[in-house]
Amino acid sequence: MDLTGRDIVTTKGMTREEIDYVLDVTSEFEDVAAGKADKRILESKMLATLFFEPSTRTRFSFESAMKRLGGDVIGFANPDVTSVWKGESLSDTVKIFGKYSDVIVIRHPERGSAEVAAESTDKPVINGGDDAHQHPTQALLDLYTIRRLKGTIDGLSVVLMADHKHSRVINSLSYAFSNYDVKIYFVAPEPLQLSEEVERDLIKMGTSYKKLADIGDVISEADVLYTHRIQKERFGDREEAEKMKGKYAVTLSLLEEAQEDMIVLHPGPRLDECPTSIDDTPFAKYFDQAFYGIPLRMALLSLVLGRY
Ligand code: NCD
Repeated sequence: MDLTGRDIVTTKGMTREEIDYVLDVTSEFEDVAAGKADKRILESKMLATLFFEPSTRTRFSFESAMKRLGGDVIGFANPDVTSVWKGESLSDTVKIFGKYSDVIVIRHPERGSAEVAAESTDKPVINGGDDAHQHPTQALLDLYTIRRLKGTIDGLSVVLMADHKHSRVINSLSYAFSNYDVKIYFVAPEPLQLSEEVERDLIKMGTSYKKLADIGDVISEADVLYTHRIQKERFGDREEAEKMKGKYAVTLSLLEEAQEDMIVLHPGPRLDECPTSIDDTPFAKYFDQAFYGIPLRMALLSLVLGRY
């Protein structure tokens, strides 16, 4: 399969064949990601990271991936240090970075910004998160983690316990799961349940899912428990966000009801929903998950740059 030049803007419409291929390629980069092997296949290639929003994992794992493969990185983590501050448009900014680099990763607080970026340059554009819309590379690394740790994705029961309404991670992950034989349980207090738009799409895709308010009803069935913080910056009313705080969490007593080989995942940053008290349990796999972001991003960079 040739993914040279491909933009990775959304998981909606990605085929199972494409996803499986990316995950297969990812497994070949684990040793390089861990610094145990050398594969300098991106020498002379330049990545531009355009981060209009804060990031720890996404930006630095892309940087680590690019540099360990022999490539280089330019970019910014604060647009105020660029001519965006003077009023330059997103489209022009991307056009310029397209002249200075071979591949672009963008994170931006407006929905659709990654698509605008992709239309503004011939260079491949990878969406590192646009508003509450999409975060495709997170979803792909989550699938990789699940396949790697559970040996399969098909046949699993996955419980997503999160602020579904405001989470781009949950959106991208749900669409990606739709390619597999997975039962999804969306657990959340009603105000944080899935957006109508995503739910409509899941129905169209024939996804097997159920919405629930109480984690107690499904915990014993879960193969994967995926949790995610309340996205307080995306609430119109910050007081509402405060009210939702503490409405769900992975506690030690909850884990007592889980199957012994269940895994707990979290895209990070984790807050109260994923307390440090569970870190030492065998369920906690979120730090491994963060590591798998590097081989996954190595695979994507190599594929879209035609160097794999
Ligand atoms: C997520 C994001 O930015 O959407 N972070 C990440 O990339 N791992 C999750 C979040 O901000 O809560």
